Amino acid sequence: MSKNILVTGGAGYIGSHTCVELIKAGYHAIIVDNFSNSEKFVIDRIEELAGKSVELIEGDCADERLLLEKLSKTKIDGVIHFAAYKAVGESSKDPLKYYTNNLNSTSSILKVMEELKCENLVFSSSCTVYGQPDQLPVTETSPVKPAESPYGRTKQICENIITDFIDAGKKLKALSLRYFNPIGAHPSAKIGELPLGVPNNLVPFITQTAAGIREKLTVFGSDYDTKDGTCIRDYIHVVDLAKAHVKALDYLLKKEGSLYDAINIGTGEGSSVKEVVDTFEKVNEVKLNYQMGDRRPGDVEKVYADASYAEKVLGWKAELSLEESLKDAWRWQKTLKV
Ligand code: UD1
Repeated sequence: MSKNILVTGGAGYIGSHTCVELIKAGYHAIIVDNFSNSEKFVIDRIEELAGKSVELIEGDCADERLLLEKLSKTKIDGVIHFAAYKAVGESSKDPLKYYTNNLNSTSSILKVMEELKCENLVFSSSCTVYGQPDQLPVTETSPVKPAESPYGRTKQICENIITDFIDAGKKLKALSLRYFNPIGAHPSAKIGELPLGVPNNLVPFITQTAAGIREKLTVFGSDYDTKDGTCIRDYIHVVDLAKAHVKALDYLLKKEGSLYDAINIGTGEGSSVKEVVDTFEKVNEVKLNYQMGDRRPGDVEKVYADASYAEKVLGWKAELSLEESLKDAWRWQKTLKV
């Protein structure tokens, strides 16, 4: 019998890619999603790519009663908790929306897990918990600094909610995966990122500009202390990231007792915004309309992962290159063009 994995936010960008990899690895996915930032057709696409059906609970994962009612007769072997709001700018304008949603959904998931006696949790965290690190590459022992935004703070607090729960003596094995910058799309171009409105993130802004949906990309800052003056990030292909979740579950399911760990999920390579733009143009043979502009408030200058702990603990490392990520991102964007 396949093990049942509850995936909150499973229709979202990272969630959908993870469901495909989970099913391919032999797990059964039960998605809970309220489609607040995703589309229903994604469920069909997951099934098409994985060649198996998924179960869908349509609703909010902060709704404990709904989950308990729907899952009362199902053994849940593990949970991957993606569902959260993630727009950094919006979180500064409407912090309570972020605190209410992100914190409530995490505590609700823990209560449901306790009730259902499910002991394995993979939590979707972010490298944002490190702020601007003092040392690069960032290891998991780097201090968690004050976050740059309410969104970032919700990720820090959710990690604390999980560790407090374990410290209170509850039986739980949990891993927080701290993602660096997920980009790209499934190579089939059946699933990918679906930003609502004007994208905040670099790669969807690039692909929408190349597609003519946006007039011009502005590179936020060209006077940073980096090789070409633009910010450095660790861009990771979303399919590599999805596979890290499968490895994380495999790991938890083999362990006994309670445990908590936080693991960086990145490539270990830093790329500048200018390099991303140049690589996008080169691999896709398209010209991008862009200009250098002012720095964006709240941006850190450089951040990239020391990804060796993930390899040591999970036996996982990123396999896909920036070139492949940007090719896949463009292939996906072209399917969206009307
Ligand atoms: C941001 C969040 C991070 C979050 C992630 C979620 C901040 C400080 N960090 O990461 O916490 O987990 O999104 O997706 O907001 N850029 C441009 N022009 C653009 C857009 C971006 O030059 O139009 C630059 C940015 O200045 C940055 C790089 O591209 O240097 C990457 O930006 P982005 O994709 O927004 O990700 P982060 O800011 O790294």
